[in-house]
Amino acid sequence: MKVSTILLSVAIATLVLADGDSTSSVFEVPLIYNPAYRGDFQAQMQKMRYRYGSPETIAAAAKKGVGLVPVTNPSFDTEYYGPVKIGTPGQTFNMDFDTGSADIWLVSSTCPTTACKNHRGFNSSSSTTFTLDPAERRFQIVYGDGSYASGYIGTDMVNVGGIQIRQTIGLATNESAQFGVSKVDGLFGLGFSSLESVPGVETFMTNAIAEKALALPVVSAYLPSLRRSGGKGGHYLFGAIDSTKFQGDLTYVPVTVKGYWQIAVQDILVSGQSLNSSYQGIIDTGTTLVILDNKTAAAVHSKIDGAYFDGGWIVPCSLSKATTGSVGFELAGKVFEVPMADIAWAPVGTATGKPGEEVCYSGVQSMSIPVWILGDVFIKNNYCVFDQSDVPSVGIAPLK
Ligand SMILES: *[C@@H]1O[C@H](CO)[C@@H](O)[C@H](O)[C@H]1NC(C)=O
Ligand SMILES: *[C@@H]1O[C@H](CO)[C@@H](O)[C@H](O)[C@H]1NC(C)=O
Ligand SMILES: *[C@@H]1O[C@H](CO)[C@@H](O)[C@H](O)[C@H]1NC(C)=O
Ligand SMILES: *[C@@H]1O[C@H](CO)[C@@H](O)[C@H](O)[C@H]1NC(C)=O
Repeated sequence: MKVSTILLSVAIATLVLADGDSTSSVFEVPLIYNPAYRGDFQAQMQKMRYRYGSPETIAAAAKKGVGLVPVTNPSFDTEYYGPVKIGTPGQTFNMDFDTGSADIWLVSSTCPTTACKNHRGFNSSSSTTFTLDPAERRFQIVYGDGSYASGYIGTDMVNVGGIQIRQTIGLATNESAQFGVSKVDGLFGLGFSSLESVPGVETFMTNAIAEKALALPVVSAYLPSLRRSGGKGGHYLFGAIDSTKFQGDLTYVPVTVKGYWQIAVQDILVSGQSLNSSYQGIIDTGTTLVILDNKTAAAVHSKIDGAYFDGGWIVPCSLSKATTGSVGFELAGKVFEVPMADIAWAPVGTATGKPGEEVCYSGVQSMSIPVWILGDVFIKNNYCVFDQSDVPSVGIAPLK
């Protein structure tokens, strides 16, 4: 959904982490996949385990419908991106994989705006496979934080970790200033086709599944956090699930409305204490924080010592050292936690009237929204499998 305005206001620019060499360990991932997923894939997934130990075997995996995209965490867990090749020969771009939207768009090399100039745009004239939309339709997308992009559409070859299909893409000839300050060249929507800004366009996942390009009809998100791994590692895995990254089995939470990855949140628990609060929520890799309605965000913070509201929810930074406590979300009968240490999201200064006390922007914020948003603060603690089989669901398990 891309809710990031609140983030840009907290002076995160100084907390930039150098781009990690996030590719060094990825060739050791054992993958689970099932080339015949059209049967009882959930049961089969548990049974079928294939191990790969070298780049050669990963390349072989891509032939079998598994694409591994290493993830970079450039700025304090604010956004994540991975390489996507577009066109022939392939031009590589940093794309933000967003389960809260469906369009794929990136900056066009013809885009004249200041924001675009900060990115290397896609040059469609130097791709031998690019085709302009015959109806010359245009796209325009506005995200939850007011950021936007617009331009023309066409089709070309899109390659994620070796999975390559022909796909409709948007080429931006205008983008908002928010994107200009980001390292992200474009967004790669992983939501359902009904969210596409141009009606009738199908998503990459829908097309890849229809073409049987994926071993499993899934994309798995493993987001690296500064606290857990220094921001290194992480992946988006197309067509497979890496069971070495999480504890126990995945809990499959059914999707209630296809559009976003919408699910029922049955309760929120603060350090085990129930708020007795249920609502619809979306699992959204494109939103940095957890966003709740006003009343529920207030209830969460009423159980956190020293928390207060000052334009946004603020908590003592000392929370980042907490080794106990959590904000838990009950999904399909199981509670998935965000450790209290991650509720102290980013330093914002000192508390009003208490010069010595460092305060942090909370990882849980509020907005007037029709659904709760479980963004990266949640996902960087819980492996999420976006499973687009006939009965779609999100498989979730706590990270190791
Ligand atoms: C795009 O590619 C064409 C053909 O290779 C080239 O002539 C043109 O200069 C490129 N445009 C930009 C903006 O790089
Ligand atoms: C980009 O879009 C904004 C908002 O719609 C508009 O004000 C601006 O003039 C556009 N810029 C260009 C170059 O089209
Ligand atoms: C939770 O909500 C139910 C139904 O509204 C109510 O019966 C119950 O007393 C509530 N429990 C707590 C602890 O607030
Ligand atoms: C949300 O809560 C904050 C703090 O309690 C308040 O200042 C703000 O006006 C509320 N917003 C809405 C839309 O109710």
